[in-house]
Amino acid sequence: MHTPTRQLSLVPESSPVLHHIALPVTLFDEQLHQTVDNMKDVMRKEGGIGLAAPQVGVPQRIIILLDLDTQQPQAWINPVIVQAQGWMWHDEGCLSLPGKRVRKMRSQWVKVSACDENGVRHEFERSNLEAACVQHEIDHLNGVLMTD
Ligand code: CO
Repeated sequence: MHTPTRQLSLVPESSPVLHHIALPVTLFDEQLHQTVDNMKDVMRKEGGIGLAAPQVGVPQRIIILLDLDTQQPQAWINPVIVQAQGWMWHDEGCLSLPGKRVRKMRSQWVKVSACDENGVRHEFERSNLEAACVQHEIDHLNGVLMTD
């Protein structure tokens, strides 16, 4: 059965879902693939470099990251930071907090373990802006906004 998914969009800043801990994904099914495709569309439309599912009202541990080299969006499911090194100050914005900028202390390098859309687990490393972005999006999965 093919269940049509509504087009997702950013939820308002006041939405409770932005402050809740998102649930792990357990089914890597067509529904997940539709949510991922939908999230990539929202991120592209809004001009972001990262997006977390709670930002579009989906309380699941899904993030989209823009690969800055290829400019392609990548979906990561149930991501966990398994190693981090160094510190840096980073000026951040957030699609859920339009117009706001916050200077955050972030790890300069991270190793992340996460599943792809098919449930296969990968490890990957990110540094500088891309490292800050992963940390920002995983914060969203834990109900944490950059202003908290
Ligand atoms: Co954000």
